[in-house]
Amino acid sequence: MTDVTRAPQTQRTLVLVKPDGVRRGLSGEILGRLEAKGYTLVAVELRTADEALLAAHYAEHRGKPFYAPLVEFMGSGPILAVVAEGERVIEGFRSLAGTTDPTSASPGTIRGDLGRDWGLAVQQNLVHGSDSPESARREIALWFPSL
Ligand code: RTP
Ligand code: MG
Repeated sequence: MTDVTRAPQTQRTLVLVKPDGVRRGLSGEILGRLEAKGYTLVAVELRTADEALLAAHYAEHRGKPFYAPLVEFMGSGPILAVVAEGERVIEGFRSLAGTTDPTSASPGTIRGDLGRDWGLAVQQNLVHGSDSPESARREIALWFPSL
């Protein structure tokens, strides 16, 4: 049911095209999907993340079995870091990205259309998107301190 009383929620989110996406030449395709959905690009920067940045970014996953390989993978090549803006963009981009495991992510999503299992569990899934307003604020401050 449509909630006609809902207040506008213009948000910003941090999107990362992970090293697998950049290596495969999918940065343009992924940015295109964000733009085609109608979100605004606020900042875009290609950079290789150092360990300190990745440790801060993935602090919530520290201690999990996939943490060390994840940080190694995320440092393995350039990442396209993006801040996107729009109404409910945090939820909207998570929906565009699809579920974490690209093999079972729905067709029509970035992970479902372009990703698959390469024998590295669900690590290489092309994109990251902030999962809440708090995460978005924290992550944007880490990757784009000047914003
Ligand atoms: P993301 O943070 O990258 O947007 O992805 P997500 O919310 O869908 O997934 P999350 O649970 O936050 O996990 C972060 C990233 O860690 C890798 N991962 N590997 N069991 C595993 O081997 C495993 N689980 C997660 C993925 O790269 C995931 O996107
Ligand atoms: Mg996450």
